[in-house]
Amino acid sequence: MTFARRVRLMLERLLSAQITRVPAPFFPFREPRGVDVTNIAVLRDPAFRRALDAALPHTLLDTPRLANLWQLCRMSNPAGAVAEIGTYRGGGALLLSQAAPDRRLLVCDTFAGFKGQRLDGALDRLFTPEQFHDCSAEQVRALLTPYAADFRVIEGAFPASDLMGIVAGLSFVHLDVDIHDATLACLRHIAGRCVDRALVVVDDYRRGADGCDRAVESFVREHRQWTGFPLYPGQALLVHRSWFADGEAPCFIAA
Ligand SMILES: C[S@@+](CC[C@H](N)C(=O)[O-])C[C@H]1O[C@@H](n2cnc3c(N)ncnc32)[C@H](O)[C@@H]1O
Repeated sequence: MTFARRVRLMLERLLSAQITRVPAPFFPFREPRGVDVTNIAVLRDPAFRRALDAALPHTLLDTPRLANLWQLCRMSNPAGAVAEIGTYRGGGALLLSQAAPDRRLLVCDTFAGFKGQRLDGALDRLFTPEQFHDCSAEQVRALLTPYAADFRVIEGAFPASDLMGIVAGLSFVHLDVDIHDATLACLRHIAGRCVDRALVVVDDYRRGADGCDRAVESFVREHRQWTGFPLYPGQALLVHRSWFADGEAPCFIAA
């Protein structure tokens, strides 16, 4: 291991974050070769570019993760609603509102970080109770109002927060609540509230957030009609068997 790499790993451990944005001459990239973005269709899509520009100041997600959300949301069943559970400042939800402008958007967060929830000392070690308090439901409503025609913001720890059962009829869910217990509880809850040909994307998969890895793996073991795939750089895609049912359209590829 080179000296520079050892320093980078040490800093990453101290910061609990991956260092990916420092130029190569100064610091070795985590990736041996950067992503080749030449002629990538989604990056050339003006609608995606507009949504990305609007969303980036209000999200922690990077362009590859947002591009995955954009394309997968547009492939999911157009008859279903779209949800983001764990929205923080709402940028991801904003992007989804533009990916599927005619669909209902349901946006959930405690708007108080992990308040009232147990963090497992080992599985959830990347996260702390102090994180994600600098946001509010009002801010997210104000952000989405110019973009989304039909949206609801549900405040509190999901799924308990959904007292009225509004989060239902889903065909695309972005689940980004970071910690083990919340991720597993949310997956178990939404599984029964998805329509056919739904897709679920879980953030923080295989990126050191062991709670998310464990929750996804427990969920697919318990729910044999769902299977999961890793997406680069750090998400899981959950696919329901209804995608392969006889006589159904295999997918909805949006232009
Ligand atoms: C990493 S942030 C989400 C980032 C966001 N998706 C974005 O695009 O920037 C994780 C969020 O999950 C929320 N959260 C944690 N547990 C939750 C739960 N049980 N229900 C709803 N939100 C939760 C936290 O309040 C925090 O805002």
